[in-house]
Parts: sequence; C-alpha cells; structure tokens
Amino acid sequence: MHRLLLLLTCVLAACSAATPASSAEGLGVQRLRCEYLRDPLGIDETRPRLSWIVTSDKRNQRQTAYQIQVASGIEALADGRPDRWDSGRIESDRTTFVEYAGKPLASRDRCYWRVRCWDAQGVPSDWSEIALWTMGLLEGSDWSAEYVSFADDSPVHKDSESLYLPAARQYRKDFEAAKKVRRATVYATALGVYELHLNGQRIGDRYFAPGWTDYDRRAYYQTYDVTGLVQQGDNALGAWVADGWYSGYVGFGLLVGIGTESIGRYTYGKTPAVLAQLEIEYDDGSRDTISTDASWKVTGEGPIREADLLMGEAYDARRELDGWASPGYDDSRWDPAVLAKDQPRVTAQFVEYRDPEQPGQAPQKHSRPIDLGFQRPRLEAFPGEKVVVTQELPTQSVTRQGEGTYLFDLGQNFAGVIRLKVKGPVGQRVKIRYGEMLHPDGRLMTENLRTARATDFYTLRGDPDGETYQPRFTFHGFQYVELSNFPGEPTKETVTGLALHSDTPLVSELECSDPMVNRLIENIRWTQRANFLDLPTDCPQRDERLGWTGDAQAYVAAAAYNADIGAFYTKWLRELMESQRPGGQFPGYAPYPFQHEWSFGTAWADAGVICPWTIWQAYGDTRVIDHCWPGMVRFMEFHQRTTKDGLGIAHGNSWGDWLAQEDQPPLEYIDTVYKAISAQKMIEMAEATGRDAAADRYRAYLDRLKRAFADKYFDDDGALKLTMQTAYALALQADLVPDELRERAGADLAARIKANGARMATGFLGTRPLLPTLTATGQNDLAVFLLQSHEFPSWGYEIDQGATTIWERWDSYTRDDGFGRHNAAMNSFAHYAFGAVAEWVFADLAGIRADGVGYGRVTIRPMPPTPGSNGDHEPIDWVRARYESIRGPIRSEWRVDGDRFELTAEVPANTTATVHVPADSAESVTLDGAPLGETPGAELTGYEAGRAVVRVGSGVWSFASRHGMGTAEEAITATAEGGE
Ligand code: BGC
Repeated sequence: MHRLLLLLTCVLAACSAATPASSAEGLGVQRLRCEYLRDPLGIDETRPRLSWIVTSDKRNQRQTAYQIQVASGIEALADGRPDRWDSGRIESDRTTFVEYAGKPLASRDRCYWRVRCWDAQGVPSDWSEIALWTMGLLEGSDWSAEYVSFADDSPVHKDSESLYLPAARQYRKDFEAAKKVRRATVYATALGVYELHLNGQRIGDRYFAPGWTDYDRRAYYQTYDVTGLVQQGDNALGAWVADGWYSGYVGFGLLVGIGTESIGRYTYGKTPAVLAQLEIEYDDGSRDTISTDASWKVTGEGPIREADLLMGEAYDARRELDGWASPGYDDSRWDPAVLAKDQPRVTAQFVEYRDPEQPGQAPQKHSRPIDLGFQRPRLEAFPGEKVVVTQELPTQSVTRQGEGTYLFDLGQNFAGVIRLKVKGPVGQRVKIRYGEMLHPDGRLMTENLRTARATDFYTLRGDPDGETYQPRFTFHGFQYVELSNFPGEPTKETVTGLALHSDTPLVSELECSDPMVNRLIENIRWTQRANFLDLPTDCPQRDERLGWTGDAQAYVAAAAYNADIGAFYTKWLRELMESQRPGGQFPGYAPYPFQHEWSFGTAWADAGVICPWTIWQAYGDTRVIDHCWPGMVRFMEFHQRTTKDGLGIAHGNSWGDWLAQEDQPPLEYIDTVYKAISAQKMIEMAEATGRDAAADRYRAYLDRLKRAFADKYFDDDGALKLTMQTAYALALQADLVPDELRERAGADLAARIKANGARMATGFLGTRPLLPTLTATGQNDLAVFLLQSHEFPSWGYEIDQGATTIWERWDSYTRDDGFGRHNAAMNSFAHYAFGAVAEWVFADLAGIRADGVGYGRVTIRPMPPTPGSNGDHEPIDWVRARYESIRGPIRSEWRVDGDRFELTAEVPANTTATVHVPADSAESVTLDGAPLGETPGAELTGYEAGRAVVRVGSGVWSFASRHGMGTAEEAITATAEGGE
C-alpha cells in the first residue's frame, strides 16, 4: 500500500513537471470513481463505469470532450502507454458512468486510469490524478481456497429461554514467502463474519465483512492489498470468525418464535466457516498462493467467548493468545481445521409463517425440515461501502450509580461500539450494558431492546499498565453505557463511543435561521448513520435491525441528499431483488431470513421499484434499472394481478400509514396509490432505457388506475371523499388528483391540518409527501410552519424532549410522561422514517433539485415562507445549503431582508441551472448588482408564480430582488385541537 502511494506520488510529481499547469484556465478533472467508489479493489464488473467531475473557476464552463486512458501499470500510464484502453478524444459532455471499453478484463487485472477533458473553448485540461481499480476473481476456478470450519459437535440449540452464544474461532496458518514480494492480495469471505490478521496486524479496517446476503444462495467476498504486510521469509495469516447473520441471532426470530427451531438463530447454517486466498507475486514474476484448507489450525479457546450481533460480545483477556497471527506461534494445542464440505449434515426444523391458500384466512406458522450443513454460495465481489468506525464520541459525563456501577453519557444516540479502558485485578468481569435513554430515576432504559441482550462483558487480564477493549463482532444502538463490577474509579476516558456504519460519504450541509431545524438536520443525519450499517435498517438497537422496505422507500430520497448512497444501495438492491417472493411481491424486509405474518405489505413492497428509481434519479445510473428490471416486472405483474376494477385491494400486512395520529385511509386506498406510484416510476424507467412496449403497458395500466381512482374517491364537487391528511398527501404525491383539482386538494389538505390545530397527523407513508405536496399546491407557508412547529406531533416537539436522533414515534419519550405513552417494546429512538422531511428541506426550502436525472441540469428554486406567516415562531428567513452532487457541488444560499431577497446559487461546471428568484417583477432582479441581461451566461426565460426564471451556466451567481411577498395577511398558529 505504502509503496503504491510512494510510487504514485513520484509519478504524479513527474507528470506535473512534464505538463504545463496552464493548459485550461481552471478546468480540472477530479473525484475519479469507478462504480461509485474511489480506487475499489477486487470488483467483478467486467465493463466498469467510470465517473469524474470537472471543476472550473470560470463561469459557463463545460466539457466538450474527454479522453480516458487505462493502463496495467502506473508507469505505463504516466509514460503515455495506456495498454488497456485509450478512449481517444470523445466529443461528449458526459462525466458519469462511462463504460470501460478497452481490452477484456480478466481476474486480478490492475487498471490505473486517468481522464482529461476539453473545455468550452476546446482547450484541454491537465490529466487528472491517477486512480485505480482492480479486478477480483471472476471465475469459480480462480478459487483454490476451501471453506474451513471447526469440529462442531454442539447440539442444535432449541431452547428459547436460554441463549446459545458460542465462542468466536481463530484460524491460522504459517507460511513462507520465499522471495522478495512485489505484491500480495487477499481475497476472503465467510459464512459468518470475519476479520483477517497478517503478521500480527489487522488487515483493513472493516467490520462485519462479508455483509449480509442470503448465504444459501450468494455471498460477497472482499479484496485486500497486503503488499506492505507480507515479508520475505516467515509469515502468518490469521482469521477471526464469528456467527454474524449466518448463524447468530437475527431480527425478531427469537421474540416471535420463528426461524430455525423457532429461536431465530442458525438462519442459514450451523457452523461458521471462512474462505481466504492470499496471492503473492514475487519480484521475479513467480507466484505463491496461501489458501484456507485442511492444513490450517483452529481454536475456540481464545478470548472472544461470545460474539453475537444482537446479544453482544464476551471477551476474556486472560485467554488472549499473544502472537497468534504472527509467524512461529506455537499452535500445537490448536485443532486441525475441518473442511466445511466435510461437516456432517445437520437437520433441524425451520419455522416461519406461510401465506394462506384460501382467501379470508390468516397466515399461519409452518414448520419444515432444513439442512443446516454447509452449502457453497455463489460468490460476488462486495459492491458496497465497507462498515468502519467513522467517528469517536467522548464521554460527556460519568455518574456513579452504586458500588462499582457507573453510567456514561456520550451525548449523542448512535450505533456502534465502545473503547473501554480499564485497570484492575485479573479475572474481574466488567459488565457493559447499552441504552438509548434513561429512566426518569437515572437508570438505563433497556425495555425497548426486547430480546436483544445488547450486553458485552470484559474479563481483565490484570495488566498493571491498564487494558483496552473494543468489541469486534457486535454493535449496539445507544447513547448511554452502564459499567457494573468496574474496578476503581472511572474517568471520562474510560469509555469512548465509536460510531460504526457503512462509509457512505456525507455530501451535504444545511443551516438556516431556526436552530431547531439545524438540530433536526443533525438528528436525521445521525439516524441515517445509525441505520446504514451494511444495509438500510429500521433501527440499530432492538432485536430487529432488518432491512424494512417501507422505511427504506419512504426515506431513500432524503438519504441521497445526506450521503452518497450509490454503492451502498447497489449492494442492498441485490438483496432486495433476491428477497422477491415467488408470487412477485417484495417482502417487508430484505434480506428475508424468515417470513413473519404475510409476505406482502402494500407500500413496503413498492420499495422494489421506488428505491431503484430513486438511485437512477439521483445519480443517472441506468444500470441499476437494468439489474432490477426483471424483478420489477414480476412485481408489476403481481400488482396487476391484485388489481380489482382498476383499484387496489386490501391484502397482506395492514401496516398502511403506520404510526399515524388519526384514522388511516383504508388499505385498498393505499394499495391503489402505491400501484400508481410504482406504475409511474416503471413508465419513466422504461422510457429511459428504451423499453417502449413496457412503457406503453404501464401507461395503460396507470390510466386505468387514475380513472378508477377519480370515480371512486372524488365527489361530484371535486372534493376527495376521504379526509385524512395522508389520503390527500398520497393522492397528490401519486399524481392521482386531476390537474384542475390539485390546488383545491392542497387547500382542503391545509384546511384539514388547520382544523387539527395546525398539527400533522400523518404516519410513515403520509409524512414523507406532506410538506412537498403542500408546497406544490400553494401551501408553502403551512409546510414551513409544520417544519418549525414544536407542538405535538412534530419534529420540534421531539427535539424539545431531548432527541438527538429521529424517534420511531413523536412521543417515544416525553418530559411529562416518560416512556409511559407507548408500549416499551415498540419504541425505538433511531428510526429514520419521519426523517424523510430532509428531502423537502433540500428540494424545496433550500430549493436544490435535479432537473431530469443525475443533476446534469439543476433547478434552484428556494421556497421562503411569507414574512409574518408563522404566528408561533419567526419564520425561516435564511438558508445556506450545499449538496455535493454526482456532477459537483451545488449551493443555494438565500436570505429575506425586509423587502429584499438575496440568493447565491452555485452550479457545477458542465451543468446548467434554472434559477427561480422570488421577485415582484423580473425587472427588480439584479445579478452581481447589475440588471439582469447585462451578465453573459444568464438569461431571463420568463416570469412565473412570482418568480423570475433565469437560465445560467456553471459558476457562482448572486441574485437580489424585491421579493414582493409582502407580509402574510393571517399568521398560522397552532391550537390545542387534536394535540396535547
Ligand atoms: C419496524 C418498522 C417497520 C414495521 C412494519 C416495525 O417493527 O421497526 O419500522 O416498517 O415494523 O410496520
């Protein structure tokens, strides 16, 4: 690794010396990515897609052509010998997802690449910095390694009253590297979760590899460059392996009595196994491969006595095997590894629900025999973002709670583990419990963890210099840590929080004049970080942590404003497609370890269309459509099959507008709406990918839904017959309200909200479109009012109760009633669904959105509230927002100052924007202090809806206007109705 860096630096220095710096004034090529990732190792896309951004200090700058060069070696590239691919000069403004079209790629190929572009004046840029991708093992025959495991004579645990938590295993192998090493690469995976070590050092920094898939069918492997770790002479490779999702406790299996033997563990098999292949390339070109096989040694006598994602880890430092992953370690007391394929067959009963065969009946539990023995999954390169520690959270306060018992407050609810520092007598066992909240009397609140034990134990080895512990194979959702049986007096340094999540780059910033809203944005971001952990989960703390599809579809667009989720979702969409039921429906969560109740829930299932569509929209990635297309088509067939008289039906799980504060719209209404939402998205995706016949088919289906919906749900007067807030918001979101009735529907929705004390009443489904549809139908002041509200139910209310994340319920905890309002078991403090409002905050309040897909064109259309429109709070009068799109940074900063409106818009190079400036007339708008029309590159194209519409090229543009909004005639005020 270090050598690569050194080499890279030298070559780059040589490059920049050779190239005049002045080639194109300020036009640069940056952020080179391959399949969304920076310098990914071991990919298996044989036509990987390359993306970059272009930057310029000049306005109206764009790329008119590009050239990509790919070489097998860094020197070759720097010397201008691109032996894999030279695209030559391609006349195109494209900067995203350019498919590699060079020599066919084979396993292990190294591809160094660089890009240059030509600007609007035809001047070439410098070459970009050099980036890298490497190919993984593309053929089954590339693998000589075999899965190894240990002699597992434990009986299948069948008792739901006691936990079965086996020790993590350590595997090792000594080997010799005979000659000078040029390069060393490890490819590895596990049925379970693993961590590799080489010569005493941990390889990489990822947690919970290989990630969760349906291991019976498919698993991911990871690739690591270990060139810097392998030495000429004696070496040792080691692996820790624990149960993970493969055989540990998963989801609510134990709680509801489903899964293998009704206890929710051993979902995919009984005995974890590991597969590792270290390939060494010597300076002389010869090679060696060290593979897991029967010559490896294994022990279960090491320090990790228990290791379970939900239950926690128990670490006995007295059992540490010093030097176990270093050469020369005496492993004579270790056991020989067992080839996983030689493990005996193990049968068990698998219990899950089954959809009824007869209509009108309910799903019933059903049991069938399964084989818990080894099955070799198909391997794929891990396409996502690795889970890593992204932040350390210092303890804010320590409170003594009793003899040896202390409570640590980390000041922020998050997901991850801790670093414990402790000094004390050998054999003392410290118990570590985690909680998101405290009871009013100061005790840790753990009722909401349900059957997740979420407890770690650390047994001291008695080191007089103190000892440090950090769990490897578990994570918790928490803000508070309780240590009991702690020796001595702890300090704040005793516990440090380590936030763990998939390393999706955070891509935005937003600040406005309302501090509560700023905290809200932070809370949403923390909740996303806590739940984007290998897969998008509902919550990180209780015995669930499942890829709930309803939550995912409601939140995915907001997620894309917060972070670059392209690779993360590329991974999870594979699991989502894999989870599809034989009837075509997508289930309530993916992966789908076991069925609970019905396999289908309306609006949850639609994640199978909404999530791929959103990724395509945010990044312009059409391959995601192609990958998901067959599954999406089968799902639409399911939709069509379950359509009656052009409408949806009440079927499956009746989550509906889950956690709404008023009566829900009937399930068949929600089903109709989601059928329409999915159909619309399918039309758009079909059109974008040349599937014209499919687009026609879905258009006909959607027309029929629209007509039937209008007939059934609108009265002669044009009013929606249902009066719930969610009913309006969903109908507007799904475009089921005829154009001429939209404004009316918005006004009716506003009236319903005002009649409810100017309070929301929407649940998981209705909250997401509520503010967007209000804004879109002329009710923006009310939308901003709801955002800023502190009355129950609202985001501000939750923050006033102390929230640092988004809660499952608005009043999961209240200062007045504690946890008393709800069932403790369904009370998560890190659930992102209500955080979907971030989408509106960026798209409407700040006004940053893509015009079309992938931000090639941008719309900047801020939606300030009318001055004086909020009777309870000062309405927001400035916003500063920045979003790092796939085409570069976009900025919208606006301020209302008396009669004056100021807007600074930043548009990435090679894109154009339509900027909508609130103004009493186009004439009152200035750009850089001069009247519009005097600045090249900015063109007034019209005046609509109280806004001057200006087309601009790239660059930073400062507008000012007389906004003409005046002052609201009547301020909105929350009243007691419908609330507290
Ligand atoms: C999860 C949700 C999920 C829901 C289905 C819950 O237990 O935590 O977020 O969508 O079940 O209603």
